[in-house]
Amino acid sequence: MQCVFLIHKFVFLLFVLLKCARGDRVPPNFVYILTDDQDLMLNGLIAMKKSLNLIGDRGKFFVHSFVNTPLCCPSRSTILTGKFPHNLGVFNNSLAGNCSSEYWQKHHEPHSIAAILKNRANYTTFYAGKYLNQYGSKYVGGTAHVPKGYDWWIGLKGNSKYYNYTLSINGTNMPIKNLYLTDLLANYSLAFLNQKNIENNPFFMMVAPPASHSPFIPPKRYIHRFPGVGVVTNPSFNYTPAHKHWIVKMAPKRLPTNISVLNQVHRRRLQTLLAVDDMVERIVLQLKKMKVFHKTYFIINSDNGFHIGQFGQPWDKRQPYEADTRVPLLISGPGVGKKILEPYPVSAVDMAPTILDLAGIRPPHHMDGKSFKKQLLNKRNRIGFRFVFMEYWGESNDKTVEKSCPWTYDDNLMECSVSQWCKCQDSRNNTYTCVMDFREELRFKYCKFDDNERFVEAYNLSLDPYELRNVFPKMNSKLIRYYNNILKKFKKCSGKMCRTL
Ligand SMILES: *[C@@H]1O[C@H](CO)[C@@H](O)[C@H](O)[C@H]1NC(C)=O
Ligand SMILES: *[C@@H]1O[C@H](CO)[C@@H](O)[C@H](O)[C@H]1NC(C)=O
Ligand SMILES: *[C@@H]1O[C@H](CO)[C@@H](O)[C@H](O)[C@H]1NC(C)=O
Ligand SMILES: *[C@@H]1O[C@H](CO)[C@@H](O)[C@H](O)[C@H]1NC(C)=O
Ligand SMILES: *[C@@H]1O[C@H](CO)[C@@H](O)[C@H](O)[C@H]1NC(C)=O
Ligand SMILES: *[C@@H]1O[C@H](CO)[C@@H](O)[C@H](O)[C@H]1NC(C)=O
Ligand SMILES: *[C@@H]1O[C@H](CO)[C@@H](O)[C@H](O)[C@H]1NC(C)=O
Ligand SMILES: *[C@@H]1O[C@H](CO)[C@@H](O)[C@H](O)[C@H]1NC(C)=O
Ligand SMILES: *[C@@H]1O[C@H](CO)[C@@H](O)[C@H](O)[C@H]1NC(C)=O
Repeated sequence: MQCVFLIHKFVFLLFVLLKCARGDRVPPNFVYILTDDQDLMLNGLIAMKKSLNLIGDRGKFFVHSFVNTPLCCPSRSTILTGKFPHNLGVFNNSLAGNCSSEYWQKHHEPHSIAAILKNRANYTTFYAGKYLNQYGSKYVGGTAHVPKGYDWWIGLKGNSKYYNYTLSINGTNMPIKNLYLTDLLANYSLAFLNQKNIENNPFFMMVAPPASHSPFIPPKRYIHRFPGVGVVTNPSFNYTPAHKHWIVKMAPKRLPTNISVLNQVHRRRLQTLLAVDDMVERIVLQLKKMKVFHKTYFIINSDNGFHIGQFGQPWDKRQPYEADTRVPLLISGPGVGKKILEPYPVSAVDMAPTILDLAGIRPPHHMDGKSFKKQLLNKRNRIGFRFVFMEYWGESNDKTVEKSCPWTYDDNLMECSVSQWCKCQDSRNNTYTCVMDFREELRFKYCKFDDNERFVEAYNLSLDPYELRNVFPKMNSKLIRYYNNILKKFKKCSGKMCRTL
């Protein structure tokens, strides 16, 4: 009698165990919100209070999250594929730099996160918003081109815009007027989630609003928000120390004392992000209504950071400093501890392998990034020992150098305008690689420029988080050799070699 009872219990236990094991294998959903040019260092997240509550408070905030290239197209290409720009051949925002080029479409698009999730695990996939700067160009198939792997494709033609723009709706060209893009993307997101039987398959949604990229146009409902809020005048604001590479020191060395135009840029950026915050809330509420929020990884991230006045540079990205390279990264979802400031360092190249890993798919060997699933699901991590690699190819374009600026048309400068006091934002020799060295308490950064001076900047970030003191002149030759050697390896690495550096 007793024995039968025990067997009964045993069978029941086995049943429960099997069910649990199977339950674990139900693939999670993903919602990936990718903002444009949203910084971390200039408090870009203060405009996203609801996101901080809904995602940050029930997930992790990665405080050491970086991009590998502080420029839209290469960074987005990296996020989508888990590969460094040097292995994608994507160097800048032009077709000639492989931004959304035929080469990209043929060789890399079929291996995006969405395409792999679809092929390997039958995910239903959705993309809405800015994709790559050259998307929709007539030279590469126009808006009829729909990247492989997406069931729903709402692709913005070209670069970020807020009101009047053209979308590709599943390959159909659709010019749109007077609808605020972020709000429209929220509507498409809800339409996707409202489909019948959407719960039958796991889904992957990537939503990429234009905020907070130029031209910084907020929705009408928010144009009065953040009155009196001005730029972040941190220690690097309008500070141009001697030991920085040449473009930082280019005239005018300091920005004018009347910074009202910088304040305006900052405020407008924050106002555009308020619409993203609304979008996040609407998507979260919908997921909750569908009772799938608990099995959805929700990611908020940006393609690169931004500076406004740091080191006397007007407003842009493209520089190797923290304002430009450090980005928000919030992740909530099954197994992720609540309200945790996560110190483990991660970068854009790690996003694709991590998402695949969370979906139970082994990341392909060719990916350069490394899954941080383990660290995401651990309650407590330390900084550990890790390198983060960055690479940037300086751009130049005569057409963006205004005639009334004192510079000659020497084919080497970019974006020099009177409204920015003729201080150029980029130059061909603003080409560099950096490695960040994280080990427990140490945070060190070493950057080498490919210019006439082979200029090097190095910062002991644990002591000098604002990168005010270049310590390169004080480094011994052994340490210099050590970092030069690591940079050399990273510049050429691919796949496993990158992952083991
Ligand atoms: C794109 O990248 C590939 C591979 O690195 C390269 O061969 C090609 O010349 C690049 N440019 C264009 C426009 O495709
Ligand atoms: C894959 O998903 C589609 C719906 O998108 C569904 O019709 C089909 O049955 C699924 N296939 C498998 C093998 O689950
Ligand atoms: C896009 O295509 C998908 C799949 O074919 C379809 O279900 C969806 O309704 C389309 N979306 C729009 C906005 O037309
Ligand atoms: C969008 O186009 C409409 C109609 O042509 C125009 O009135 C409006 O000013 C434009 N908006 C922006 C932000 O350019
Ligand atoms: C979004 O949908 C709502 C509700 O259907 C509608 O009132 C609003 O005008 C839409 N917004 C845009 C930008 O399309
Ligand atoms: C500062 O510049 C703005 C225009 O950029 C101007 O409207 C304002 O009057 C100036 N303020 C002072 C104090 O000069
Ligand atoms: C982008 O990169 C390509 C390839 O290196 C180069 O030919 C082109 O001049 C670059 N574009 C700009 C604007 O610098
Ligand atoms: C970088 O390029 C600019 C523009 O051609 C030139 O004036 C400058 O001397 C160069 N600087 C270095 C360090 O290579
Ligand atoms: C950086 O600063 C820390 C803390 O003072 C110090 O221990 C370390 O030796 C410094 N590292 C370098 C490479 O200068």
